[in-house]
Amino acid sequence: MNSFPLGLIVFCAALFCFSPNTSSAKKLSRCDLAKELFFKFKFAKRLIPSLICLAEFGSRLNTSAVSEVKEDGSRAHGIFQIKDQDYCSVDADVRSECKVECEKLRDRKLDDDIRCVRQILSKHGLSYWEEWVKNCRGKYLMHFIHACFI
Ligand SMILES: *[C@@H]1O[C@H](CO)[C@@H](O)[C@H](O)[C@H]1NC(C)=O
Repeated sequence: MNSFPLGLIVFCAALFCFSPNTSSAKKLSRCDLAKELFFKFKFAKRLIPSLICLAEFGSRLNTSAVSEVKEDGSRAHGIFQIKDQDYCSVDADVRSECKVECEKLRDRKLDDDIRCVRQILSKHGLSYWEEWVKNCRGKYLMHFIHACFI
């Protein structure tokens, strides 16, 4: 019998399953994030290693990350780990500083994350993030963007 069509269908199904779907990609590379921060969001280059370090230790560069409950009872959301109870809200209650639902910080679209990050930076600086204080502050960070801009 002619089994070719079945083989073809299996092959195509496998291809579909394993091809990276960029719209739902959750884990970014350091360089993808660095380039997006620089070219799309126009961050100063000197800030980028710190932001990559923060994203790496905060979320493992996972755009949909959500943390365990912290000591203050909050959870942190998204690639930059922004906390509910201050900067994002768990429901439609928009009293949070960034007036954004935490859920929106957990998708691949970084516009609202960045808007909120800028607000946090202007108010607290990078010290808002304990992951940054613990793992990035005062450290050599240039390797986080190594070969991203050549
Ligand atoms: C990203 O984080 C989400 C939520 O915590 C988790 O379900 C998912 O497995 C993580 N993805 C990767 C690639 O680590």
